[in-house]
Amino acid sequence: MKKNFKIIAILQARVQSSRLPNKALLKLNKKPSIIRMVDRIKEARLLHEIWLATGKSKSNDKLEKVLLNTDIKVFRGDDDDVLSRFSEIAKITKADIIVRLTGDCPLIDPKIIDNTVILLIEKKADYASNVLKRTFPDGLDVEVFTKRTLNITNNNAEPGFSREHVTTYMHGLHNAKYKKGKFKKVSLEHESDFSHLRWTLDEEKDLIFLNSIYKSLPYNASWQDILSHLSKFPLMQLNNNIVKHNEGTQNSQLQNYERYKVSNKLFKRAIKTIPLGSQTFSKSYIQWPKGSAPLFIDRAQGVKIIDKDGNHFIDYVMGLLPIILGYCDKDVDHAVILQIMKGNIFSMPSSLEMELSEILTKIIPSAEMVRFGKNGSDVTTAAIRLARAYTNKDLVAVAGYHGWHDWYIGSTSRTLGVPEKVKSLTHKFNFNDADTLESLFKKFPNKFAAVIIEPAGLIKTDINSLKKIRTLCNRNGVILIFDEIISGFRINLGGAQKEFGIIPDLSCFGKGIANGYPLSAIVGKKEIMKYMEDIFFSSTFGGEAISLCAAIATIKKMKKLHVIEKNKQYGKKISKELNKVINDSNMHELLKVSKNDWWPQIEMTNLPIENDLFVSLLRQELLKNGLFLASTFNLCFAHNQKGILDLTVKKFKKSIISLKDFINSNNPEKNLKGSLIEKTFKVR
Ligand SMILES: Cc1ncc(COP(=O)(O)O)c(C=O)c1O
Repeated sequence: MKKNFKIIAILQARVQSSRLPNKALLKLNKKPSIIRMVDRIKEARLLHEIWLATGKSKSNDKLEKVLLNTDIKVFRGDDDDVLSRFSEIAKITKADIIVRLTGDCPLIDPKIIDNTVILLIEKKADYASNVLKRTFPDGLDVEVFTKRTLNITNNNAEPGFSREHVTTYMHGLHNAKYKKGKFKKVSLEHESDFSHLRWTLDEEKDLIFLNSIYKSLPYNASWQDILSHLSKFPLMQLNNNIVKHNEGTQNSQLQNYERYKVSNKLFKRAIKTIPLGSQTFSKSYIQWPKGSAPLFIDRAQGVKIIDKDGNHFIDYVMGLLPIILGYCDKDVDHAVILQIMKGNIFSMPSSLEMELSEILTKIIPSAEMVRFGKNGSDVTTAAIRLARAYTNKDLVAVAGYHGWHDWYIGSTSRTLGVPEKVKSLTHKFNFNDADTLESLFKKFPNKFAAVIIEPAGLIKTDINSLKKIRTLCNRNGVILIFDEIISGFRINLGGAQKEFGIIPDLSCFGKGIANGYPLSAIVGKKEIMKYMEDIFFSSTFGGEAISLCAAIATIKKMKKLHVIEKNKQYGKKISKELNKVINDSNMHELLKVSKNDWWPQIEMTNLPIENDLFVSLLRQELLKNGLFLASTFNLCFAHNQKGILDLTVKKFKKSIISLKDFINSNNPEKNLKGSLIEKTFKVR
């Protein structure tokens, strides 16, 4: 390396911060965070000088004062034009190479600083950084550039955003509307991706996290030491929000291909080893306009999901309904992490099985005894076997979707692989018309073991029909099973049976029971459930502890925060607000949001173009505007957070306006940039 390069670091900081005022002065294990940061920067071996660049305004006097007894030089410049401060310092110091650091990174790593400088020099680059492609934890950001790069940037960057953010013109990562220069850029990357970790100081909870790191480790611990410390104390990570606030930039201006470039690339790989490229039919590419839609999700938090390209969306699919509180709910995940430390699967049952069973028997009217499974299909199938064993009869009447097993799927239009004999044992009827069930009972007298229904769903339940079904089952000695995989924990904590006061013999729960951890439950009358000792319903993971403790934590929180009531209130608001948007856009003859408060859905009628094209265009536009919405609003507690409703309305409005333009154009098809969604088999 050439010896005579003068290398300086400029740390930009200020006292004002809307989210966390005075953050540079807040103490991390007794020392102001800015001093903590400086102490770490000083460990870098290649720096000749370290400068603090702050604004002239009086509020920053405090910052200058804190640095008085250090050897850090302070430069006070324009409050908004931060770029000019860098330029001035470079002139004063005659620096050849400038390292840019920001004051919100108290865990900045000196080795990463040195390595970025070395990379710039070795590659003879104009700009080097570890933010071009993020692989390090957020909060270890280092940017290095030459004097020439800085001069060009200072001469060309336009007032406003680019000058405030200093390097926008150099890296060109921000919104395409900002000018960018032509530079040779090199990226410092780690072989593993740690970019989901958030180590910045931006809000109160970051302070708790950073403070605990400084209290536990020496001030100069390397970032790898911090990582290994966190792996021993994963609870600390929970103060860390994996969806970063500065991820606000949407890529919606980008062409579809660019916007979903990583997803499309990954898909080509995934489809080679995974049929459909997904484990779940409804999560696969055929449900979305492929090319104009993400295909792989990277992470999620609250109601936000982020795809592999870094696009983020407000989600209304919520993993197909298991997420009832919000992604990565802190209370549930705390309980889970504690359980991980104790173990997940043992050679005998854990007492968690009993604890959760007792809770369920208290909240679900029909629950006297309980068994657990992993998927909804496990417990609906167990319920059917139990009913057959108890009644010694074979036929089953179904009205809804009940899972992937032969006994049910044989009654749908996707029956490939199901033996004819099995198909003949299942019969469909309309649950809102009990007479259709009565006809079945008359046609096959004394042959039915069970009737299984979704007692509440997208179509409003006719309570009289439900009562009649109950009576018909009693009269014919048939087991009535409520499939509450969706309605349980959504319409009422005790399920639709509690809501309507109609009690089944057996019922099945799943999805929302554990906020996304895999758990399902079959509950019912003791007299019938006792047959579980004679039938065979047994699985290695049935008593898996993490999901059980997640369910206990989920139910506790749902009760405490009245989650179901809050979600229903949100459901009411969303249908009101979105119907207003639809009316204002004069689209009300085609679209409507149903007023089903616990599970609103988009209803479509009189479409002027083919249904699949309409849905594909609608989904394409919703995705483009950052709404991950299929046809139902699968609500969770985090949707109630401030601002989510307004944002949803705004994004929905934009999407409806473009959709309207598309369908009114001469050739609506040409507006579809991705592929048409594929017709799926309809189950409800
Ligand atoms: C009402 C209902 N029952 C059963 C199931 C099957 O559950 P799983 O997919 O977890 O097996 C589902 C899944 O969507 C469902 O909605």
